[in-house]
Amino acid sequence: MGTITNKSKAKAEIELLRSQLHEHNHLYYNLAKPIISDKEFDLMMKELESLESKFPEFYDELSPTKRPGGDPVDGFSKVRHTTPMLSLSNTYAESEVEDWMARVDKGLEGEEVEYVMELKYDGVAISLVYKEGRLLRAITRGDGETGEDITANVKTINTIPLILKNDFPSKLEIRGEIFYPFEHFNALNDLREEEGEPRFANPRNTAAGSLKLQDSREVAKRKLDCMMYGVIAKGVSETHSEAVSLAGSWGFKIPSSVTKMISTSSDVGGVMNFISFWEEGRHNLPFAIDGVVIKVNRYDQQERLGLTSKSPRWAISFKFETERVRTKLKEITYQVGRTGAVTPVANLEPVQLGGTTVKRASLHNADQIERLGLIVGDFVFVEKGGEIIPKVVGVDESVRAVANDLFSPTSSTFPTHCLECGTELVREEGEAAHYCPNKSSCPPQVQGRIVHFISRKAMNIDGLGAETVIQLVEVGLVTDPSSLYELKAEDILPLERMAKKSVEKLLAGIEASKSVPFERVLFGLGIRYVGETVAKKLARYFGSLDAIMQADKESLLEVDEIGDRIADSVISYFADERNKQLVRRLREANLQLKIQDVEGATNKLEGASIVVSGLFEKYDRVGIKGLIELHGGKVSSSISKKTSFVVAGDKMGPSKREKAEKLGVEIISEDELLSKIS
Ligand code: IVH
Repeated sequence: MGTITNKSKAKAEIELLRSQLHEHNHLYYNLAKPIISDKEFDLMMKELESLESKFPEFYDELSPTKRPGGDPVDGFSKVRHTTPMLSLSNTYAESEVEDWMARVDKGLEGEEVEYVMELKYDGVAISLVYKEGRLLRAITRGDGETGEDITANVKTINTIPLILKNDFPSKLEIRGEIFYPFEHFNALNDLREEEGEPRFANPRNTAAGSLKLQDSREVAKRKLDCMMYGVIAKGVSETHSEAVSLAGSWGFKIPSSVTKMISTSSDVGGVMNFISFWEEGRHNLPFAIDGVVIKVNRYDQQERLGLTSKSPRWAISFKFETERVRTKLKEITYQVGRTGAVTPVANLEPVQLGGTTVKRASLHNADQIERLGLIVGDFVFVEKGGEIIPKVVGVDESVRAVANDLFSPTSSTFPTHCLECGTELVREEGEAAHYCPNKSSCPPQVQGRIVHFISRKAMNIDGLGAETVIQLVEVGLVTDPSSLYELKAEDILPLERMAKKSVEKLLAGIEASKSVPFERVLFGLGIRYVGETVAKKLARYFGSLDAIMQADKESLLEVDEIGDRIADSVISYFADERNKQLVRRLREANLQLKIQDVEGATNKLEGASIVVSGLFEKYDRVGIKGLIELHGGKVSSSISKKTSFVVAGDKMGPSKREKAEKLGVEIISEDELLSKIS
């Protein structure tokens, strides 16, 4: 009896905490009006987490505790949209807007029309399907007819409600745009730079890439955002603008009419006012827009106007021109990266563009300089487009500077020698970029490799940052990653900004890195094209650095997802005597150069490709997958003819079950899996 009341008390408590946390989430993220402190929020979350772990029977995949991700991304299965996701026809001038309005008037036989104007968010379209107020599925646009199920990743976006509130329709689909706010996008790029990884080019593509990541916890960290722009439901309202405000009451982030992010008008003047307001105002927004969308507000009128094959007749977009400014090219400098690639950079007379002051712009490579026929002193056009790093797109031909050899950097005047170390540059067959081949002592290359080696995802050396690395390289104390392990306190203490405490911390960090697992050491080497995931795959497949060094191309190609480009890069890396020497020294320093023997590991599932679906009793999904890998099996996300068997738990996805049955793939339970490996 006691346990039953305990249980029902716990259930009530869990339910209350969940609904309160959903509400606080909405107040904080969508309305920016929190009524409790972050600390109180965290405490409630902790309490809920602890109750949920004590009472796993009340599991809910839509609990606020699931926001930080962690649910394995279960492939990205294809899903058909119930209503196709159309695109919009574009306009670029007032006259085109007027023409469209005239067509609308004609289509509605002169009936009065109200238009609603919204921003055109520059991100990725998403369809959010809710049933009985619970988020069922989040699907990408795909080809408009069929998209991909990215629910696990979308669930991590705080501005998307998992559970709806107030008077929501039982069947609801919300259309919206997922985008990357500048603030978080820039922070991500700064972090990447710190870790020696290239910056992402623009928020839209990065948002799209983030949504396809395999680990939803990584998606959660990206801090994406979502604004809704469409409601598909029966009989909730007569107009689009009303539906939008209702969606706000259900818990969605909606554009505010107070800040003029949504507005209505019945004439072209009002519409054009909205457009000019945002053509200017877009630079002060915390996210990117690429135009304005104009829609007929009344649903019955929308229906009467209907659709063409690609887009509705009741809506159009007005696209802003990519902003372009003209400024003087003062100088071209050349930057040498970690890999030795030399990038020309245009140094400009400072100019305002897209809300920021631009002083430098990318010129990509010698070919582009030649194509543009640039001469220092020219007036050039600079664009930002979707990208954050501006680029030079053309030359103002009407005021050309006078060319002379010194100031016209064509490919014949592209530096022949590295400006950092004086080594003659090389340009490989078919490659656009020039490289400095002096891998071992060109300062930005040496520094860049070490900064990469110590970065968070590689050796994660506490107490050592990029600035200190530069200092250590400059004074000659460090020449490659292995020399970090030879550093002594008395060598570093005399350096600028080095106190006893910081030296101790640095040395302790270096010491601790000796137990960093092999796969991260491998990633830290900075072999071209061997990122985090590839490093993991190579490490697991070969088990040790020795085995990878001895592998020929054929065996490298056997590794899942490794193709010619990566295999060639690995082989050429280890063919280089300097890299062999580096490995020898890292071995002497006692770094982990092979996979640790894991207790309990067997090869009972070797060669098996296994799909995991549903919820389990004894393990969570991550646990089940870990178990499979521990026993030599390979976890795969989608069922195919090659699948050995599917481990199915409670609530296995029906489409997965269907596919397994169709292909005759065996479905086993958690217990059956456990007995296979016991
Ligand atoms: S309405 C029937 N409203 O623009 C078309 N779309 O070219 C429904 N977009 O893929 C679209 N902001 O992802 C609409 N306020 C807005 C929008 C918007 C951005 C995107 C949307 C769509 C594309 C259409």
